[in-house]
Amino acid sequence: MRENQQEQEDFPGADRRSDIGNNAPRSSPTVVENANPPASVNGIPHLTRRSFLMWVGSSGAATALPASALAAPMATAVPVTMDPGLVNVRLTVNDVVRDAQVDVRTSLLDYLRENLQLTGTKKGCDHGQCGACTVHVNGRRVNSCLSLVAMHEGDSVTTIEGLGTPDRLHPLQAAFVAHDGLQCGYCTAGQIMSAAALLTEPCGRADADVKEAMSGNICRCGAYSNIVAAIRQVRDAG
Ligand code: FES
Ligand code: FES
Repeated sequence: MRENQQEQEDFPGADRRSDIGNNAPRSSPTVVENANPPASVNGIPHLTRRSFLMWVGSSGAATALPASALAAPMATAVPVTMDPGLVNVRLTVNDVVRDAQVDVRTSLLDYLRENLQLTGTKKGCDHGQCGACTVHVNGRRVNSCLSLVAMHEGDSVTTIEGLGTPDRLHPLQAAFVAHDGLQCGYCTAGQIMSAAALLTEPCGRADADVKEAMSGNICRCGAYSNIVAAIRQVRDAG
């Protein structure tokens, strides 16, 4: 009761609670009843819970708070030096040390293509199903679309650009050309990177073993027999 009286003193005309209780017809809603802040003592608003919510909600009263009230929380704010969503990473790509500040969600594939413009590595499915994104990490083949670059601090990455150059082709690159191991070429970088890793893996000599070892690399053009022939040539020469 006493609180209700206090609210009416704070907000003349704020008698809606009693209106609800006795079903008396309401007067037209007014939007100006809280336009003025409630009474204050020594510059600090004297607020009940209800009057505070009404005051802030209807008048945007934060702008009317004393400057000291606004300044207090800002004085304790900690300066932000780095977006918490970013991370520093250093890795070696094709024998070049790279430092980067990347979003923690960045895949190794996107880092190579978007940050370093090494677009020889292709994005096919982006779900680890096609092998178009295959690169070497510390000598082992990985699907770069499934790996976060932030996990490769200190690692050594090799892409198709680091395997050979147009003037100095890797034996597998030359063999793919010689055997027409490609049609559209979209899968080819991934095929060659997988094949290059296969050369160092414990893979049987039969074509069936090669096909099994290369089964993670899809060729939508169906150049499989020529790809196997190219790999066989390099293995036999080695
Ligand atoms: S793009 Fe990585 S497996 Fe298809
Ligand atoms: S050459 Fe076209 S997808 Fe393999």
